[in-house]
Amino acid sequence: MRRPTSIAPQKGKLGILTPGMGAVSTTFMAGVELVRKGGALPVGSLTQLATIRLGKRTERRSPLMREFLPLEKLDNLVFGGWDIFPDTAYEAARKAGVLEPHHLEQVKGLLSSIRPMKGAFDQAYVKKLEGRHVKKAKTKFDLAEEIKDDIQQFKKKSGAQRLVMVWCGSTEVFLTPHEVHADPAKFEKAMKANHPAIAPSMLYAWAAITSGVPFANGAPNLTVDIPALQELAREHNVPICGKDFKTGQTLLKTILAPGFKARMLGLNGWFSTNILGNRDGEVLDDPESFKTKEESKLGVLEYILQAQLYPQLYGKMYHKVRINYYPPRGDNKEGWDNIDIFGWLGYPMQIKVDFLCRDSILAAPIVLDLVLFLDLAQRAGLRGIQEWLSFYFKSPMCAPQLYPEHDLFIQLSRGQVLCQKPASEPFPPISAGEMPAVKEAGARKETTGYNTAPQPHALFLQCFRRFSLPDYSINRIAKPASVP
Ligand SMILES: NC(=O)c1ccc[n+]([C@@H]2O[C@H](COP(=O)([O-])OP(=O)(O)OC[C@H]3O[C@@H](n4cnc5c(N)ncnc54)[C@H](O)[C@@H]3O)[C@@H](O)[C@H]2O)c1
Repeated sequence: MRRPTSIAPQKGKLGILTPGMGAVSTTFMAGVELVRKGGALPVGSLTQLATIRLGKRTERRSPLMREFLPLEKLDNLVFGGWDIFPDTAYEAARKAGVLEPHHLEQVKGLLSSIRPMKGAFDQAYVKKLEGRHVKKAKTKFDLAEEIKDDIQQFKKKSGAQRLVMVWCGSTEVFLTPHEVHADPAKFEKAMKANHPAIAPSMLYAWAAITSGVPFANGAPNLTVDIPALQELAREHNVPICGKDFKTGQTLLKTILAPGFKARMLGLNGWFSTNILGNRDGEVLDDPESFKTKEESKLGVLEYILQAQLYPQLYGKMYHKVRINYYPPRGDNKEGWDNIDIFGWLGYPMQIKVDFLCRDSILAAPIVLDLVLFLDLAQRAGLRGIQEWLSFYFKSPMCAPQLYPEHDLFIQLSRGQVLCQKPASEPFPPISAGEMPAVKEAGARKETTGYNTAPQPHALFLQCFRRFSLPDYSINRIAKPASVP
């Protein structure tokens, strides 16, 4: 595998393309513009607000992540996208009803100028929507080629020199890996034959990857979680990640469950139910789309709690997730959790969580961070699945021989792998299947350089170190000797 040794500087503008311009996408675009205008805070974004501790704690050096890492500046971001409805981003944002009119009016100029390109859509994959602004072509391959043309057109018109694509489209029906997903040749043949195992989201991903554009999957769809597209990502030097933005109930679950496990508290059951009334909720009202979401939400506890290691504590845990479409609630979802835990001598206790959540408000900073990190990853020469971005996903992608990591704190610490070597040494490989065994801690003492002037590579990781909890389960990742 190629081992990059430097990070290319950011030149020109960075274009962000979102298939799907609904609640999440428009809340993200509007938010970036509000922050650029001044007066609005990018709450929830590590790249914008987080600090990095450098050196020893006594040195009190904690600069902002964005001041140290060569991340693209918000002023240099330009936006585009596709949707199956022709509404501009402004009209779509108004309909989504996430942001208050006083916010939307301030960014009306920018949002009104963003018109979606026609979507590649097939109602067989999103039963609840009837697209009116859709591409027409004979084969799925032709549709994908049209998306590639769109990408080039956008690049020309916007003046962007680099691009990142983030799937913010609807949740598609549940698909499992199929023989036609096995390699790029079979995949292309299947696109030409209009094979049902090729969903529209895969066409966008194929177009992005073969155009050299990093791709993140914000929905639980299968999309890039197949060998064909992963192989193409490696061939085209494209970083990819997914899937399903970790917001709301699952975010809380991955904060609470590691805490119970850390204290060896038992769990008999976890019942989660939601009501939400946005378009996403309407799409999920279809059992086939719900199945995709349900799979994504259910895996979380199983992997965090490791019942195979702790059968007395978690062996009998019952986990249930429901999502109910309830239009009056709009984007302001309510998620209830009933958690049956048990303690000393098996005595039962209950915890009730009622999260009055704003889904897209939690998702927008994730889109921003993914865009900036994927662009950075590509400039650093990283390609394939970026497991260190698992932190942002409900159902993180990983190599076939690994299991997905769901614990929020371990996910954060994964970024540490990036800084195991100093700037003068090759970048450690971090793509799935390419994650190295961690090198001896002793060697790090001389090489990490935490006490010296920070190098960009080391900083890449230091930002993640800043957020790591004490190392109770990440002992595979050695600590830099200079960090107490
Ligand atoms: N809101 C959250 O916090 C959150 C969290 C996790 C995952 N997600 C996922 O992110 C996605 C977006 O969520 P949202 O709340 O913005 O939903 P939304 O319904 O408001 O927006 C999705 C948009 O995608 C469009 N679309 C559907 N198929 C398309 C296609 N083939 N091509 C182009 N456009 C297409 C729809 O017309 C719609 O405008 C959903 O899949 C959702 O499950 C959202």
